[in-house]
Amino acid sequence: WNKLDGAKALVDSGIDRVPDFYVKPLDQRLSPQDLALHADEIPVIDVSPLLDSKPTSSDRSKEDVIAELLDASERWGFFQVINHGIGSDLTRRMLAVAHEFFQLPLAEKMVSYSTDIDAAVRYGTSVNPLKEVFLDWQDNLLHRFLPERQDQPHPWPTKPSSYELIAGEFVDQAKFLARHLLRALSEGLGLGPDYLEGEFGEHNVALRLNYYPPCPSPELAIGLRSHSDVGGLTILLQDSDIVGLQVKVQEKWKTVRSVPGALVINIGDQLQIYSNGKLKSVEHRAIVNADKARVSVGLFYDPASDVRVSPIPKFVDTEHPAAYNPCVFRDYLKNLYSKNLVGKELLESQRK
Ligand code: SIN
Ligand code: FE2
Repeated sequence: WNKLDGAKALVDSGIDRVPDFYVKPLDQRLSPQDLALHADEIPVIDVSPLLDSKPTSSDRSKEDVIAELLDASERWGFFQVINHGIGSDLTRRMLAVAHEFFQLPLAEKMVSYSTDIDAAVRYGTSVNPLKEVFLDWQDNLLHRFLPERQDQPHPWPTKPSSYELIAGEFVDQAKFLARHLLRALSEGLGLGPDYLEGEFGEHNVALRLNYYPPCPSPELAIGLRSHSDVGGLTILLQDSDIVGLQVKVQEKWKTVRSVPGALVINIGDQLQIYSNGKLKSVEHRAIVNADKARVSVGLFYDPASDVRVSPIPKFVDTEHPAAYNPCVFRDYLKNLYSKNLVGKELLESQRK
């Protein structure tokens, strides 16, 4: 076993304690109080009124839903959605194929190992395992759908054999949802429905599969260290019976309950920059547990790589000067991988 083999291979090798290079500094360890709080202020929103093609199961108007989405995005940066149009059969199959992927023999997953941040498919462990002082207790597969490569055949992982069909369908449906949520936020911000999409240009989409094996001492390790998402909108599908996602709510870590059928949505750094701080990109992390492997699947709906992101003029005036320096999204991503930044440090470094 070596560090690049990752957390699952470590557990499979039959360890009974957490090795030092997975142990967090004392001040970051989990306490029992840490595990007791739930993020119940994060609303669960029925978004069916936003999705035209579906008969609405809600008695609220589209405007009511937009107001709720905007309020949650300004206050917490997180909300959950139900009646989101992605069928429970598809989400179940997506989670199952994610579990299946990580069950493959290590050598088969390592075919997709790469340190090239522009690679379309990249398997690995933690964030930057060769540079980190302590590693995240997770392995992951990052799968990017780049608009500039749409004319080339997409390099799908060939195993599991059902991955292409299931992940392809999930990505299509999640993109549809992301587009509607972005339109709703754009409208809620008073920009008109098409504005943010226009800013995003030929948007980037990426799928990230996370695998957190059981951990003999969950309080010592971290599944995914504290960060804010770098891009636009994130849609997160999590295993229905195992919690793990925690969000920082007024300086306290709180666990997001897993609501059957719901998807977790959060605001990324670029939307905070565009809105000059109105929408919040909030710190979150994943914790691990001693009993069960957990997977989560994130769909990132981001601006195109060459888009220069800066606060939208509507949100800038003498009382609210532009709070962030303009930055090309590709350069922002590069900074993420070149600097070992935690929490909201990357976004803060963009502050004027
Ligand atoms: C993430 O922040 O991207 C994933 C967190 C989780 O696994 O719940
Ligand atoms: Fe995240």
